[in-house]
Amino acid sequence: MGRIGIYPGSFDPLTEGHRDIVLRSLRFFDTVVVAILKNPDKRAMFSVRERAALIAETFADEPRIQVDHFGGLLVDYVRQRKADAVIRGLRAVQDFEYEFQMTMMNRRLAPDVDTVFMMTDEEYFYIASRTVKEVARLGGTIDGLVPDNIKAAMFVKLGREGELA
Ligand code: PNS
Repeated sequence: MGRIGIYPGSFDPLTEGHRDIVLRSLRFFDTVVVAILKNPDKRAMFSVRERAALIAETFADEPRIQVDHFGGLLVDYVRQRKADAVIRGLRAVQDFEYEFQMTMMNRRLAPDVDTVFMMTDEEYFYIASRTVKEVARLGGTIDGLVPDNIKAAMFVKLGREGELA
């Protein structure tokens, strides 16, 4: 299977920023697993099952990308998958504090599990799932912020399917 990188997150939904991180990571890992956290968040737009199906569709042409979900501690999941590292994206400085805390907590729990950080393309560094959802809910355009299949699924959820070409 070669080197496995686990890219964990909420992915509600996957954005172009996430996609960029996954594609960049393929240069360093043989397999990249997009691992969706199963947490019962009632405010989520998509169920974990829906998110997994959408992400699999986005990356349908790349067999080295897998989609999975996990519950409990990330480090347990990483060990169970016998993965080589956790992958996280870094956007602006504001991400650093949260990522630093999480990485150090994970290291304390599992000193053998390392996290590598990737920077998104400058075109995407301001994109967050939360703001994309807000713009979509309020009737704005989200072209270029999420993959096309995900935009379509969001518009269907929001009753905006009439706007799809
Ligand atoms: O996309 P997100 O919401 O920033 O991803 C956060 C995620 C899923 C990476 C993080 O919440 C996580 O790893 N949760 C699993 C629980 C866990 O292991 N917690 C200990 C680390 S602080």
